[in-house]
Amino acid sequence: EKGGWDSFMDKEIHEEPAAVQRTLFGRLDDEGNINLDEVRIDEHDFRAIDKIIVVACGTASYAGMVAKYAIEHWVRIPVEVELAHEFRYRDPILTPRTLVVAISQSGETMDTLMALRHAREQGSKVLAICNTQGASIPREADAVLYTHAGPEVAVASTKAFVAQITAAYILGLYLAQLKGTVFRDEIHQTLDSLKAMPQKIQQVLDTQPPRVAKAAEQLADANSFLFLGRHVGYPVALEGALKLKEIAYTFTEGFAAGELKHGPIALVDEGEPVVFIVPPARGRNILHAKVISGIEEVKARGAFIIAVAEEGDKDVERYADIIFWRPQCPTLMSPLVDVVPLQLLAMDMAKQKGYDVDKPRNLAKSVTVE
Ligand code: M6R
Repeated sequence: EKGGWDSFMDKEIHEEPAAVQRTLFGRLDDEGNINLDEVRIDEHDFRAIDKIIVVACGTASYAGMVAKYAIEHWVRIPVEVELAHEFRYRDPILTPRTLVVAISQSGETMDTLMALRHAREQGSKVLAICNTQGASIPREADAVLYTHAGPEVAVASTKAFVAQITAAYILGLYLAQLKGTVFRDEIHQTLDSLKAMPQKIQQVLDTQPPRVAKAAEQLADANSFLFLGRHVGYPVALEGALKLKEIAYTFTEGFAAGELKHGPIALVDEGEPVVFIVPPARGRNILHAKVISGIEEVKARGAFIIAVAEEGDKDVERYADIIFWRPQCPTLMSPLVDVVPLQLLAMDMAKQKGYDVDKPRNLAKSVTVE
């Protein structure tokens, strides 16, 4: 059932173009508008929403963090992202105009299910973004947006992550369409960028695996890694760090790159591997300049720099010891490609060390207890 791949994780990473494609499919009508009839929340209720709270755990929460940047930009309403187990035990401010978005691959994560119940008891509507038809979370939610990534077997979540971002983006653009916060043309352009992403992910999968495998060989003995990114690159850094600790058992930390001088830079020593998610350089992107200056700072302290960067990025070429290239795409779309080499790196490092990449120690595919 691994279809020729030597692990489910490898197979599932290679299914990412299809996961994004299938999650988009059927949600755009002939005129290119977003059609979410399946969601069954009244348009009037949707239009009234004035706040979104994403509740999720692990990788799904990082997909939520990526979505926060996009949805706040498009819809101009606050989006909070909260770990489901934290949400439940405080006293969150929920009103009937709050939309709680529960993101879960399995649909059975107990912490997320309990957060959903808590939100509904307070009178908020809950929309589930879920990969498993008929699971508890979609069953109990007011509305469901299924990710169509196909069954995910490996404990480390990969294709579900890109599908979750895609589904959350569709939701964001749908709200923007309803509320009129983004011009129609711009919505169509953004959808076109989204539709182009499966092809771009494929390009990464066609070209980068040998580079990643070589890097994994070179880095197999490293005791710890830092992952840094800004804006949507920040949750990608967190996700890259999580993957590596989950399956290669390497001590990792993910940070927002802007935090470096507020503490984490103290960890940087000669030879310390530091992974940077570099935003596009085009259009004199200020974020790009900021990340490059972070790279300079850690490089000056002897760090070994691994960068995920856009093809042709000369600044990155100047400083990085290893570069994983991604094709050009808008910043908001970049997580869909940037995460791919990080998933591959974790997998290759785990294989280097002789670990079972599909069944890491101490972890279950779905955490059905609190
Ligand atoms: O099934 P869910 O998406 O609710 O699972 C949430 C987390 O348990 C899950 O993403 C976990 O962090 C994975 N092991 C990540 O690879």
